[in-house]
Amino acid sequence: MNLTLKIWRQKSAKDKGQMVEYKVTEISEHMSFLEMMDVLNEQIINKGDEPVAFDHDCREGICGMCSMYINGEAHGPDRGVTTCQLHMRMFKDGDTITIEPFRAKAFPVIKDLVVDRTSFERIQQSGGFISVNTSGNTQDANSIPISKQAADEAMDAATCIGCGACVATCKNSSAMLFVGAKVSQYALLPQGQVEATDRVLNMVAQMDAEGFGNCTNTGACEVECPKGISLENIARMNREYLSASFKG
Ligand code: SF4
Ligand code: FES
Repeated sequence: MNLTLKIWRQKSAKDKGQMVEYKVTEISEHMSFLEMMDVLNEQIINKGDEPVAFDHDCREGICGMCSMYINGEAHGPDRGVTTCQLHMRMFKDGDTITIEPFRAKAFPVIKDLVVDRTSFERIQQSGGFISVNTSGNTQDANSIPISKQAADEAMDAATCIGCGACVATCKNSSAMLFVGAKVSQYALLPQGQVEATDRVLNMVAQMDAEGFGNCTNTGACEVECPKGISLENIARMNREYLSASFKG
């Protein structure tokens, strides 16, 4: 395939940035989108120019690093995949593809397609964990009975990879699907009950402090989430928050 790429280039956080057009040729439909970007970068480097900066790590849908806004959609036109799992067969020969960084106030652009998502880490640090006694008397997790439904729902919530597609997709740049998933994975399990009140209050407070917007129930986040995180997690977080507010 031969393609035209319109890519956001921005030298630094302070640079104004602009769209720059590139041509790539002989792209295989079996390549992943990131492999196509590698071909482009080789081409750019051979010309002595600066390659396009983009985030990636696992390249198998696990780390959540490969944030790209492709043709107006987080992680591109396919469903249930990250950019590294997106195949070039989703595009046609001769296509023009627009590639931008995830855009949200709480995800400032660092360079080209790389954004700073440490706001998610600060939300996690504010409550996305459980404290476990490691004195040697820790209860064996397998001896704590958990219903199949709770275990399944907690596992589903825990599949969130923190990619930020929900934020990039939301017209309000809301992080409620991410935070909802992180709150839910503990709220559903007995191990999460001890710190449940502080957890939801602190995580929501940090989410607001980072400048994420509110949820207005459009559901775009759920559609674009590569891991199929359900809106039910936002509803659960709201219930947890309400009950914690009365206790807190
Ligand atoms: S909820 Fe989905 S879209 Fe949002 S960070 Fe988690 S995996 Fe990514
Ligand atoms: S590079 Fe890890 S999810 Fe895409």
